[in-house]
Amino acid sequence: MKVYRDYYFLKAKEDHYPARSVYKLQEMDRAFRLFRAGMKVLDLGAAPGSWSLYAAERVGEKGLVLACDLQGTETAFPPNVTFLQENVFERSPEFESLLAEKGPFDMVISDMAPRTTGTKFTDQARSLELCLEAVAVADRYLKSGGGFVAKIFMGPDFQELAGALRARFATVRTFKPKSSRAESKEIFELGMGFKGAVQG
Ligand SMILES: C[S@@+](CC[C@H](N)C(=O)[O-])C[C@H]1O[C@@H](n2cnc3c(N)ncnc32)[C@H](O)[C@@H]1O
Repeated sequence: MKVYRDYYFLKAKEDHYPARSVYKLQEMDRAFRLFRAGMKVLDLGAAPGSWSLYAAERVGEKGLVLACDLQGTETAFPPNVTFLQENVFERSPEFESLLAEKGPFDMVISDMAPRTTGTKFTDQARSLELCLEAVAVADRYLKSGGGFVAKIFMGPDFQELAGALRARFATVRTFKPKSSRAESKEIFELGMGFKGAVQG
């Protein structure tokens, strides 16, 4: 994997975050005021843990973050973060009971990304599948009025995600953070004001 030692990479080291992706969440938080003290946040695709660390700081000790990823992480999290190694498509009974116990959530955030194959259409299709699964999780565990953020690799079926969010959220926005590399096809789709699950 290519490692970019750019401004944000070095800044993440300096700020003690395990990944530069934290600044994308920070930019979205600054633009859309995503977090408040006391909130409950579900972080999907959380390893190595920058988004969880950032969300945990923003929601404070009265809030919580439940995080999962296919991969484990060695990041030391504060006590308001619970991290589980889980595949979002095959959630274990332990994860489901934690979702029920700690939820419903104020925010569902997903930075999930498929392992890239080099074939653009395959990568985009897998990215959409991950986003739609994050939407399915939000349908079950997001509070009414809650918010949603998901990363997607921009491609022809991006509209499917945008449509799924428009059906569920009062406001839908597309955002390309400055800290996201210009050459990257990733963008973020945000939903605010959850109106409730949609069947089918
Ligand atoms: C860009 S990284 C996330 C970085 C993270 N937001 C951070 O700030 O540290 C994308 C992650 O999505 C995870 N992922 C991909 N498919 C997944 C799945 N089916 N279930 C859970 N996590 C998944 C990958 O393992 C990877 O760690």
